[in-house]
Amino acid sequence: MKKLEDYVTSIPDFPEPGIIFRDVTTILQDADGLALAVDGVREMLKDVDYDVVVGPESRGFIFGVPVAYAEHKGFVPVRKQGKLPREVISADYELEYGKATIEMHRDSIKPGQKVVIIDDLIATGGTIEAIIGLIKEMGGEVVKICFIMELKGLNGREKLEGYDVESLIAYEGN
Ligand code: PRP
Ligand code: MG
Repeated sequence: MKKLEDYVTSIPDFPEPGIIFRDVTTILQDADGLALAVDGVREMLKDVDYDVVVGPESRGFIFGVPVAYAEHKGFVPVRKQGKLPREVISADYELEYGKATIEMHRDSIKPGQKVVIIDDLIATGGTIEAIIGLIKEMGGEVVKICFIMELKGLNGREKLEGYDVESLIAYEGN
């Protein structure tokens, strides 16, 4: 029986020299790999009381929606700038390689809602730190943050101190 990590493909020097890209497409394209990932996150949430799942474009959609659907929760997308049609709130953040702005619809989280964030990967933690800021601005409470993979060498967890953070696979380096 293969483990989830067996379905990840590691590509050196993509998209830039020195970066090892952890490719999740080889998880997704295999029925067993996809089930291991989705069910692994569902297992992390089995004792968590929450109202809604938030996931960032684009890989956070891939893992967030099937979990939300299976657990009968709603899903709120975090999108890259300029994609959402109604009133938004925005946050700028730095990525492992580059800068970006993310947005959420201003009314997407109701005050007091308990939120779970799901994404494929924590690297520097910048993406999730920015999302936490937006959720707080709307009055939501982040109760758990779930990742498929974690790159420990980039110390992303330091940015998420005080939060319940869990990943299915942890890589020592970056
Ligand atoms: C990647 C990855 C995470 C984020 C992790 O997304 O899917 O969302 O970077 O990096 P961080 O912890 O340093 O913030 P990316 O912005 O490359 O976009 P994608 O999901 O659309 O591929
Ligand atoms: Mg992403």
